[in-house]
Amino acid sequence: MLRFRVMRALPLLVLACGAALAQTSGPAALTGMVTSDTGGPMEGVVVSAKPVGGKITVSVLSDQKGRYAFPADRLKAGDYEIRIRATGYDAANPKMAATVKEKAAAKVDIKLGKTQNLAAQLTSAEWLLSIPGTQAQKEKLYRDCVLCHTLTPVLGSTYSAEEWQTTLVRMYNWSEGGSLQKPLLAPLRSGPRAGDEEFAKYLSSINLSAGPTHNFELKTLPRPHGADTKVIITEYDLPRADAEPHEAVADKDGIVWYSDEAEGIVGRLDPKTGATKEWQDPSAKAGYPGGLHDMELDRDGNPWAGRHEYNGFLKFDKQTEKFVDYVIPNVSPYTRPTFLALRPDGKVWLKDNTDFKIFRFDPNNGEYVGYDEYPPNLNLKSEEPATVGGTRSGQVHHSIYGMNTDSQGNAYGADIGVGNIIKVDAKTGKTTLYPTPTPNSGPRRMHFDSSDHLWIGEWWANQLAMFDPETEKFQEWPVPIPFYGPYDAVLDKAGNVWTGSMSVDTILRFTPKTGQFRQYLMPALGVNVRRIDVDDNGKSPVFWVGENRRAKIAKVEPLE
Ligand code: HEC
Repeated sequence: MLRFRVMRALPLLVLACGAALAQTSGPAALTGMVTSDTGGPMEGVVVSAKPVGGKITVSVLSDQKGRYAFPADRLKAGDYEIRIRATGYDAANPKMAATVKEKAAAKVDIKLGKTQNLAAQLTSAEWLLSIPGTQAQKEKLYRDCVLCHTLTPVLGSTYSAEEWQTTLVRMYNWSEGGSLQKPLLAPLRSGPRAGDEEFAKYLSSINLSAGPTHNFELKTLPRPHGADTKVIITEYDLPRADAEPHEAVADKDGIVWYSDEAEGIVGRLDPKTGATKEWQDPSAKAGYPGGLHDMELDRDGNPWAGRHEYNGFLKFDKQTEKFVDYVIPNVSPYTRPTFLALRPDGKVWLKDNTDFKIFRFDPNNGEYVGYDEYPPNLNLKSEEPATVGGTRSGQVHHSIYGMNTDSQGNAYGADIGVGNIIKVDAKTGKTTLYPTPTPNSGPRRMHFDSSDHLWIGEWWANQLAMFDPETEKFQEWPVPIPFYGPYDAVLDKAGNVWTGSMSVDTILRFTPKTGQFRQYLMPALGVNVRRIDVDDNGKSPVFWVGENRRAKIAKVEPLE
């Protein structure tokens, strides 16, 4: 079930907080006014500055008066390219530039004009708001078509219903680790699925098969305003233009480690300098995409990652800069241990998408223990791996997505297929299912906080949730953007929950105490956020995220 709940209270909150906060304090390196074609000030326009030939982009947003300002300590002296993001508008001058000097603030006023091509600016969520169709038809698009790319090529296509049927089968055969720039064949071949004919008809009724324009109005989400404009976003380019940083996790020294969804690559980013280094896992298996998935850091700060498309997981030893490869014994070759959880005692929880098992692995003696009674009576055996969302040949069933472990070492899995949190007791091996209050909520990724509360992204229900294992009770909160689909959830030490989305380029920060959401719009379209990480080691929490389809790692810093 997908919920359209727009927070009615939002404009009030904005009035309360917006006026009191200065955009930035202290001297500016670069400042100016953003105005529209009619001369009015434009609030909530993302203004980005990137040094010519550089790798680090800094972005700020314009305030209620249309004024933007980059703090002096964020831009070094030099020449910069300036870009904007404001849905519905383009910069009148597409080649904006600024020269930042040591002492005085550079000034660049920005004029915007109405865009001639609004369709090219829509996020997947905005397409879903705009297109006609039943809730079920939109949900199918939302579940099946926003993982690997946005809905823009889908709505911009000219396929007839018949042509869609073959196109759909082509989609079923791509690996989720691939993208438009980098198609990767999945290891197993798939044919047509039940419901394709009807879905193909629907797709041909909303694309451009009947003519060069859409026969529905293009709806957009509101531009950021008030407190949502008080943020600095820093983006670090990765060395490969087609890098896919599915996960980005900061260690205690502030170094950010990332795993690539398309290739067996582990990378390291030093945010102080922007320097990156990457290592290619040498043990890639022929005929399978080598991409990695979940990444977790062990007690020594070494990254571990699950493989996306075949049996195996790995540890990267950061001292020796060598990979240690592991393979789960006696399972189907299509086993995909995409998620793992590192227990406080050094053992590792793994899950396998094919045989529906949870494993406990002990790196000290190489022992694997399989817990195949989850969920008790649904131990389906098949060669065919489950896809995201727990469908196998179109049939929904139990399937664990994200995994985590509490301070006692118990395993928790997000049963995305049916909407449970599954617990395996570390001592007894007993499995317990906890259904989320919202049925079929699609729990996806989750993280424990320091009080052993589990924070969960409920993808299908469009909600954040918290599960308290002690009381065995959940709390759920709808997010304020339709079709957002929280992918993950992490609590920071200041008491805020962070989440990201595959279908909207907005990072959400939620304060459970006040029920308030902040919405931080990212500088460009098609970010496709997966894993969320908060670095709580410094004075205030620092939020990190991989821009999975833009080959960047981003830091989001609220200015409050
Ligand atoms: C598992 C990854 C994946 C998923 C899920 C996916 N696609 Fe794609 N899609 C791709 C890749 C890779 C390409 C580029 C290669 C190609 O054209 O097939 C692509 C390209 C496209 C294109 C542009 C190329 C063309 O043929 O015009 C359209 C349209 C499209 N996909 C539609 C869809 C629809 C509809 C869905 C949902 C049913 C979907 N895709 C789901 C991977 C995916």
